[in-house]
Amino acid sequence: MSDVIARAAPGFRPKVAVVLGSGLGGFAADVKTIATIPYGELQGFPQTTVGSHAGKLVLGHVGPTAVAVLQGRAHYYERGRADEMKGAIDTLAGLGCETLLQTNAAGSLRLDMPPGSAMAITDHINFTGGNPLFGESGDGRFVDMVDAYDPKLVAQMLAAAKSANILCHDGVYIWFSGPSFETPAEIRAARVLGADAVGMSTVPETILARRAGLRVAALSLMTNYAAGLSRDKLGHEQTIAVARESEGRMRRLLRLFLEQYA
Ligand code: HPA
Repeated sequence: MSDVIARAAPGFRPKVAVVLGSGLGGFAADVKTIATIPYGELQGFPQTTVGSHAGKLVLGHVGPTAVAVLQGRAHYYERGRADEMKGAIDTLAGLGCETLLQTNAAGSLRLDMPPGSAMAITDHINFTGGNPLFGESGDGRFVDMVDAYDPKLVAQMLAAAKSANILCHDGVYIWFSGPSFETPAEIRAARVLGADAVGMSTVPETILARRAGLRVAALSLMTNYAAGLSRDKLGHEQTIAVARESEGRMRRLLRLFLEQYA
């Protein structure tokens, strides 16, 4: 699979792999592109079934930083497999990426983080019971998850937000399997457990990335208050609508973070 990439972008060595979540795929337009490859041509890459996930790998630069942008991910809820992104992440690690930067849409558990707010993930809670390393053998599967979200990268994200005058919170992300949204009782439980935001992605990729030796940073966009916190109806249309409204700000933040990535 790497030879498809080598043929499309000879000698290209990305530093940062970027996963774009729901409604945030437009960031790919901010990449000075060398090559775009559909996942279908890349062995081990997922077939995405969520409409807003394009399923393309975009290689190029953001400022001086060489990036490999995954426009869309596959989720645990699509086929009940937590390791959907294993092939993609291992390939990008093999290409020389040192960091995985993820974005996602999430529900907010905090009244001071209304829809449209950004949050840098500082830690996660895996509430699904699933793990992308099920079935692996060898001691490498016992991955240390302390500081899984690199504290230095979190600080760099918050600094980039501050310099761009964008309010960016930080907090804990809890992973529910989906695809149904959570119940209000589940969200009350999640709050007791210490979660600030809830979503259906990101955690398996973080585990896979740490397994592959990558540093991880992740940025959530609150697209709604989580179940029970407001009277708003929950649905994917709302996720996409809020993501589109906030896309400009999120893109600016990602751009700045990557331009200043050292
Ligand atoms: N729950 C789970 N995933 C989500 C949500 C939510 O409220 N909003 C966006 N993705």
